[in-house]
Amino acid sequence: MSYFTEENSEEAVSARMGENVSPRLRQIMDALIHHLHAFVKEVELTEAEWEVAIDFLTKTGQICSDTRQEFILLSDVLGVSMLVDAVNHRAPDGATETTVFGPFHVEGAPERQMGDNICLDGKGEICLFQGRVVDLEGNPIDNALISVWSDNYEGFYDVQQPDIQPPFNNRGIFRTGPDGRYAFRGIKPVAYPIPDDGPVGKMLATLGRHPWRPAHTHFMVTADGYSRVITHIFVEGDRYLTSDAVFGVKKSLIIPFEKVDRANEAWQADFDFVLCRQKQNKG
Ligand code: BEZ
Ligand code: FE
Repeated sequence: MSYFTEENSEEAVSARMGENVSPRLRQIMDALIHHLHAFVKEVELTEAEWEVAIDFLTKTGQICSDTRQEFILLSDVLGVSMLVDAVNHRAPDGATETTVFGPFHVEGAPERQMGDNICLDGKGEICLFQGRVVDLEGNPIDNALISVWSDNYEGFYDVQQPDIQPPFNNRGIFRTGPDGRYAFRGIKPVAYPIPDDGPVGKMLATLGRHPWRPAHTHFMVTADGYSRVITHIFVEGDRYLTSDAVFGVKKSLIIPFEKVDRANEAWQADFDFVLCRQKQNKG
């Protein structure tokens, strides 16, 4: 057994793991140690730079609370969230593509009747969202649950403004019938910046990056026997589609929002969710 050197650093650390470490954890830790050490060697990290990194990670942890998750934001802006999503959801052609979950989903949103309006404060441009939940062959899926959540007309989620917005504003769950159809009213979403008043926002500014996400509505679609789909639909023409701060945009998820002139809605967005059976997922 030799002492730690620059040359043997990876082996020196990996070799300390005990015999009872599970093979998967060993694989992950070996790879993590390998890439971390290679990174330090490649850039020849200075002590001052390492201190900056430690300070950044400390501040990232310190700003976290029940309602603020700065580490998820960090993962999002570094493209790690989208990469983990890609590796785990290699769905067949034709299946609805997945994208980043984001920090603003909340449990317990009410189940609503088809056609209901999820915009509880009456602010924003009302949009009819409609379509079907189908399988890869186009057959309707009965009893699928569609959970939707969206920012408000000013770009804030209800949980970001508990004193301003009613609870579950712009949120709801809808259950399909045998025809697989869904329809509800909400608002045409608007672009918004991810929370950028913390260390991640400061990092983006230092790197010359903006914090904006293109306008989108979030969906989580589940049905017995099918892989869960967590996704968004994006508003065609949004200026941030090609520079989303969290890399969440996929071409298949960009749809036209049609201007309509009806008594109870100003916009219409049509989108079908295509689910694959659990065994059809490649990932
Ligand atoms: C969101 O779309 O809600 C979101 C995603 C990633 C970071 C921040 C917000
Ligand atoms: Fe969002």
